[in-house]
Amino acid sequence: MPAPLEIVDAVKVFRTPEGGRLTALDRVSLKLASAEFVTLLGPSGCGKTTLLRTISGFETLDAGDVLIDGVAMTQKPAHRRPVNTVFQRYALFGHMSVARNVGYALEIAGYGKREIRARVGEMLELVGLSGLENRKIAQLSGGQQQRVALARALAGKPKLLLLDEPLSALDKNLRQKMQQELKALQRELGIGFVFVTHDQEEALTMSDRIAVLADGRIQQIGAPLDLYQSPANLFTADFLGESNLLPVTLDGQCARLGDGQSFAANGHPSGVATLMLRPEALGLTRPEGPALGFTGKLRETYYTGKDHQIALDTAAFGLIRALLRSGGALPEAGAELTVYAPAHGLHLIAEVAP
Ligand SMILES: Nc1ncnc2c1ncn2[C@@H]1O[C@H](COP(=O)(O)OP(=O)(O)O)[C@@H](O)[C@H]1O
Ligand SMILES: [Mg+2]
Repeated sequence: MPAPLEIVDAVKVFRTPEGGRLTALDRVSLKLASAEFVTLLGPSGCGKTTLLRTISGFETLDAGDVLIDGVAMTQKPAHRRPVNTVFQRYALFGHMSVARNVGYALEIAGYGKREIRARVGEMLELVGLSGLENRKIAQLSGGQQQRVALARALAGKPKLLLLDEPLSALDKNLRQKMQQELKALQRELGIGFVFVTHDQEEALTMSDRIAVLADGRIQQIGAPLDLYQSPANLFTADFLGESNLLPVTLDGQCARLGDGQSFAANGHPSGVATLMLRPEALGLTRPEGPALGFTGKLRETYYTGKDHQIALDTAAFGLIRALLRSGGALPEAGAELTVYAPAHGLHLIAEVAP
């Protein structure tokens, strides 16, 4: 079976108004396994929307190819590609009813009235809006408008759905609800979703795989847990959540920290690198087996209801942040404390933090 989507060495260069050139996509390659939920994650301006637009055909590539279901799309205009897009500002027709918004593309494509009505009903049921056929868009809540946009994008039965920050206009609770709904919908439909967000939590909760983008390049692509626990570079480590980044020296067998502590690092080339410690990998009790310990003065503590977020001021590394899941009370600010990291919580990155 051909991949629902394959992007091969995509390059897109824009001319800027100042007469310069801006490489928005720099040899981007990406292949979806069937019915995968893949997220493009990266900061504003990194090329996410541009990549979606080259898939949908609103933008042409300067080099490289886009294939959908094994078919090259290069010569196909946007309206002949089997994809559809849900936009951040849903781009709905405010003066039209819900039903007409959802059925509009089918109307244009020349479907019969009865068929359109049936398909619109089916789509509204799919997104949980049955009964609201005759409402005007302006009479809907943000979440309902989002669902109309989704129903409209799915009405033509696309083989691939592109979603460009579709949840960013919603408040947090609704957003989390829609995240779950979208994911469930994708499973039910069994088609590929390419979802764009700049929100790392959203990417981690929703995706089968995440492609981290920066400056028009894919930094790393993989399953959420793999990217979070084993980022390949500092950008991915930093973008996917909080971390402590400590400089280390490698000699081929072990890694040595600035305070003299060391740990086994077989197979890593000699030189300088960075040890990444996620705050939740640190704890107050010394684990069995090899571990690192960091002692410092308790600086900041935030109790979130589930855990304590603390910062320890250490002599060798400055602030070290830890997330302590214990429900117990903590010492007063200023008290001396030691946190420990077990060997499995240590991850080396072959780059030096600035
Ligand atoms: N039509 C265009 N002309 C010139 N530059 C553009 C155009 N569209 C996007 N860009 C530039 O390309 C880069 C990537 O933009 P975009 O894909 O919209 O980023 P993102 O969606 O990740 O925020 C940005 O620097 C943006 O300014
Ligand atoms: Mg964008």
